[in-house]
Amino acid sequence: MCGIVGYTGHQPAKEIIIDGLRKLEYRGYDSAGIALLEGDHVVVRKKKGKIANLEKAIAGEKFYATTGIGHTRWATHGAPTDGNAHPHISQDGKIAVVHNGIIENYMELKEKLEKEHGITFRSETDTEVIAQILGVLHQEKKSLQECVYEASKVMKGAYTFAAICEDEPDRIVAFRKDTPLIAGIGDGCNFLASDVTPLLKYLDEIYLIDNGEMIVCTPDRIEIFDEDGKPVHKDSLHVNWSVEDAQKGGYQHFMLKEINEQPKAVSETLGRRLDDGNHVHLDGISLTKEDLANINKIDIVACGTAYHAGLIGKYLIEKFAGIPVEVDVASEYRYRDPLVDEHTLFIAVSQSGETLDTLMSLREAKSKGARVLSIVNVVGSSVARESDDVFYTWAGPEIAVASTKAYTTQLICMYLLALYIGRLNDHITEEYSQKVIAELKQLPDKIQDVLDHSSSVESMAKLLYNRQQVFYIGRGLDASVAYEGSLKLKEISYINSFAIAAGELKHGTIALIEPETTVIAIATQDFLYPKMYSNIEEIRARHAHIISLVKKGHEDIRKISTDVLEIPDCMDEVAPVLAIVPLQLFSYYMARERGENIDKPRNLAKSVTVE
Ligand code: F6R
Repeated sequence: MCGIVGYTGHQPAKEIIIDGLRKLEYRGYDSAGIALLEGDHVVVRKKKGKIANLEKAIAGEKFYATTGIGHTRWATHGAPTDGNAHPHISQDGKIAVVHNGIIENYMELKEKLEKEHGITFRSETDTEVIAQILGVLHQEKKSLQECVYEASKVMKGAYTFAAICEDEPDRIVAFRKDTPLIAGIGDGCNFLASDVTPLLKYLDEIYLIDNGEMIVCTPDRIEIFDEDGKPVHKDSLHVNWSVEDAQKGGYQHFMLKEINEQPKAVSETLGRRLDDGNHVHLDGISLTKEDLANINKIDIVACGTAYHAGLIGKYLIEKFAGIPVEVDVASEYRYRDPLVDEHTLFIAVSQSGETLDTLMSLREAKSKGARVLSIVNVVGSSVARESDDVFYTWAGPEIAVASTKAYTTQLICMYLLALYIGRLNDHITEEYSQKVIAELKQLPDKIQDVLDHSSSVESMAKLLYNRQQVFYIGRGLDASVAYEGSLKLKEISYINSFAIAAGELKHGTIALIEPETTVIAIATQDFLYPKMYSNIEEIRARHAHIISLVKKGHEDIRKISTDVLEIPDCMDEVAPVLAIVPLQLFSYYMARERGENIDKPRNLAKSVTVE
């Protein structure tokens, strides 16, 4: 979703800001713009559509500014037009603002500005309200810093914003409320951004800005102030992601690169949490036997793919640790007044750590006394910072909108956590735990084996890419894999697809099965195999195209399937980590055959920082 970049230093700001905006493209956007402090004027240029449109529009202009702000907008209030794109400027044109979030009381503020100050609004956005408030305050001879501070007190909602003012050269003032903001410490220059990816090539030390904090950046210093306007001293954080991590590295798309990175990512996640004796250690997470005795239920809350990882987490925690688990999508959980108290362990799962619904659910659970543990990829993200304990996935940056390696590493965290809790409360034996860990350790090689056979998935996609409808079915753990496989397909190929527990087919959905339908039947759970076999038979009787996904060795399935996809033999419990890989590849190749924009699918954003 919306991305903010700011630079102040001694180099031409335009190039640096546009390059930064490109790095934020993956978050999703539909217009882009920049504001530069050009001499003693604020110059704003913005364009609907891709950053390339903006670049084209300004190609003939020469800018000397060394301070500026930039923005990629994902439309919420007002259509994606040139006029609604950010930056927005104050009525007198002196101040420019970029914003990420939604100002909930913007109508009320807008009316007040119109009536009491004669402001004429130029856009349909909520953001313009910020620019106009700053403009009005500035006319009262207040500094930009004072204006930002005062403006932050009258708004409600999520409003992280950055502003420049033509009366204050070499200065960017920004404020954070509920959507991410970091400040990057450069050499003779400083930056701010929505996430670290635009900054990787310039620096490796950042400040994580907290909610309610304001930052003032000049080329030689970054000052941070708290909600009361008092200076804040905080330690910088070292960033260990490299520039290469956030580049395509020879792959046609980030998604394919990230699918192929899964053996390494899974191995990293395991390596960080297993000791030499193959025991799970949760260094940095304090979960004692006494803590556990105090917990009588676990709530796992997340959105989209992370929610699907939560479904598998439920199965694992209930099986390995014998504690009841509820899994909920965050947008429902936060409004359903959940039954939570100090005996609840709340687990938030989030790649970005910035998903607003997940963050709000976390706050809801925390306010009711729950202990909060999060499974997060982005170090220092909001979810991570507001949790009592963090279980990082260590997947490295995930750039493609469709989540792949973040999901598989979230699953690995779930295995390790469930095993750890299960041993702590003696629900499973050491022998069983060791057996599962031995299987987990084989996963990187087995995922590689699946990847080495990706050409068969590619050929399948070449035949099927123009299908209108694909169903995914499975039982037990495979039902959760089916949900994730189906989401992957629809989000990048735009094929109508949905997933259902195979046993539910007969209760309605089988009415949709016809010869043109493709059904992907996931049957990796040995004890449920006979049941899946019968479900596949039922579908075959309706002449659908059936792709069965099984462990190697199930030759009988070929008799009743049109195609078969295989994963290496493994314990049922760990099969989801392997089964999802051919499904990710299938979605990728289907979308590629259809010529879709795989890394940035339409209407989607990587980081969903609004409701
Ligand atoms: C799908 C996908 C989304 C995210 C969801 C939550 O491929 O990526 O469904 O999983 O928006 O995002 P995070 O994990 O960042 O909270």
